[in-house]
Amino acid sequence: MRFISLTCGLIPKSATYTEKTTNITYISDADFIDSGIVGRIDDSYKTLFQQQTWTLRSFPEGQRNCYTFNLKENSKYLIRGTFVYGNYDGLNQMPEFDLHVGPNKWTSVTLEGVANASIYEIIHVVAHDRLQVCLIKTGETTPFISSLELRPLNNNTYQCFTKKKENNNTYLTHESLMSFARIYFPQTPSFLRYDEDVHDRVWVPYKNNKTVSLSTNLTIDTSSGSYNVPQHVANSAIFPANASHPLNIWWDIGDTNAHSYIYMHFAEIQNLGSNEIREFNITYNGGEVWESFFRPHKLKITTIFSRTALSSSDGKFNFTFTMTESSTLPPLINALEVYTDVENLLLETHQDEDPKSLNIRKLAASDLNGAITPDIAGLTQLRELDLSKNDLSGELPDFLADMKLLTLINLKRNPKLNLTIPDSLQQKIDDKVLILLIDEKLGRKFPLVAVTVSVVAGVITLLAILTICFIVARKKHSEVPSNINSETRSTNQSIRTKEGIFTYYEILKMTNNFERVLGKGGYGRVYYGNLNGTQVAVKMLFHTSASHDYNHFKAEVEFLSRVHHRNLVGLVGYCDDGDNLALIYQYMANGDLKENMSGKSGGHVLTWENRLLIAMEAAQGDETKMSLLF
Ligand SMILES: *[C@@H]1O[C@H](CO)[C@@H](O)[C@H](O)[C@H]1NC(C)=O
Ligand SMILES: *[C@@H]1O[C@H](CO)[C@@H](O)[C@H](O)[C@H]1NC(C)=O
Repeated sequence: MRFISLTCGLIPKSATYTEKTTNITYISDADFIDSGIVGRIDDSYKTLFQQQTWTLRSFPEGQRNCYTFNLKENSKYLIRGTFVYGNYDGLNQMPEFDLHVGPNKWTSVTLEGVANASIYEIIHVVAHDRLQVCLIKTGETTPFISSLELRPLNNNTYQCFTKKKENNNTYLTHESLMSFARIYFPQTPSFLRYDEDVHDRVWVPYKNNKTVSLSTNLTIDTSSGSYNVPQHVANSAIFPANASHPLNIWWDIGDTNAHSYIYMHFAEIQNLGSNEIREFNITYNGGEVWESFFRPHKLKITTIFSRTALSSSDGKFNFTFTMTESSTLPPLINALEVYTDVENLLLETHQDEDPKSLNIRKLAASDLNGAITPDIAGLTQLRELDLSKNDLSGELPDFLADMKLLTLINLKRNPKLNLTIPDSLQQKIDDKVLILLIDEKLGRKFPLVAVTVSVVAGVITLLAILTICFIVARKKHSEVPSNINSETRSTNQSIRTKEGIFTYYEILKMTNNFERVLGKGGYGRVYYGNLNGTQVAVKMLFHTSASHDYNHFKAEVEFLSRVHHRNLVGLVGYCDDGDNLALIYQYMANGDLKENMSGKSGGHVLTWENRLLIAMEAAQGDETKMSLLF
């Protein structure tokens, strides 16, 4: 089964590496998206995380930026997005934005802190042969993503359906499931994922003082049900610490509208005597029966789940496992998975399949003014309408509600628009078949569902905002050379140059995310760039902590900014942005001085007179004289 493991912002785009703790090979995301710019978390946070989070891709431009994957139709995937901010932009401000799968909102992304990983997982059936994962700007901050992973799952697992109504017909649709928790009960706590889990699900260890955990060395048969529960998950279980007490497991989804989809995995791991019986009932929320007279199979996994959602009026789910009268042994459980449904579930639509169904994104930021034209109603196949960043005025027209295939309307940043939502449109929003994006200040009618991160004293470790999973257990370096930032870098102003000073962001734009490498050496790499139509060579200095390197950089900037010569590479500018140092030179399309002297560049070889002249001028380093001579 093929994994897709993307390290976002990994450059160059052909780069790959094998992550040390998981042995998973990651590739760059560049072939799956054509927008965004690459970034890198602050060095001081790197030791906390696995390599796939060291770089990232951010999206300062555009409302909606999408990754596109060509996959087999109707295949089921576990999709995992990882977000580590790591102060990559130096703003020390945690971004907030949304994540979509196709046109459906998957979740809002929130970050706990600069050095915390937020991980979101969804189990999703690819409706057509194309899957889009999109980052949606929802406010002023810039969306970004650190890593995106796709793991194929067996089609006959995690099958959940909900009833949907359309044109008076009720039918069942596949539900996408968002991971809330996936826990197991080992005696020594450790996170578990690939390659112990063939699907690379992340299993979180759980322990508390009301339960005891036991393990067996015997092999557990995990073949039934296609869930492929890993051996090290299957071979331990928890029991109530006091054998005469029931086993209690509870969690709080924090959102009263959300549902729980629950998967419990059981196997008998103890050797039962001939007169011993382990049999129990499972009830939830004060008495509803989930399973009766259940006896776990000896050394064989049984998975119990419901195909339809369980709801709860207060968002809490409380499961009780009670011994039956004939049982001589306390209840047990080996592993538990909890999923919730996706906030705005819409049918995934097939975009771009004919001209009429094209998203008319071109209309965004195109200086449209006046009222929203009724001509749009004629575009019956339209699925997404992006009229953001225009100067539209007037009312939101009713006809938008009659456009059957329309699932997304973006009207943000049209300051003159009257944002009163017609009832017919509101109805479609309430029915969750349409997303309307309008400026928040002016009133957004659909509720922003707060992701509550309250983990109750009960059993569940929240996986959705999982912070520890990626932390590499290593002693922190006490002598991280971050002090250089405060001391040496504060002398920025001493670099005097009349030439351009560029930000890292500008460097990224200039080099198109470091697309073309011109050369490399001990100092770093040189990339081809384009600065407002002028060809440039961008020398990125290797990331360095030594202050003499920084001083060398300063010296080179100061020297080169005084020297100009058409055969010496002129300095166009530099970048001293955070820990990114770069020098931007004129691009010598005809090769440099050395090549011209040797005739290697194929063109004209320098005459001896000219060589002498160049040597003299360079030695004098006098700008005015040089420009006079040439
Ligand atoms: C966020 O990260 C910090 C530093 O690693 C840690 O101390 C803190 O507990 C984390 N926050 C949460 C909510 O996990
Ligand atoms: C177990 O629970 C029972 C009933 O609550 C109690 O009587 C008993 O003392 C407990 N046993 C231990 C070892 O705590």
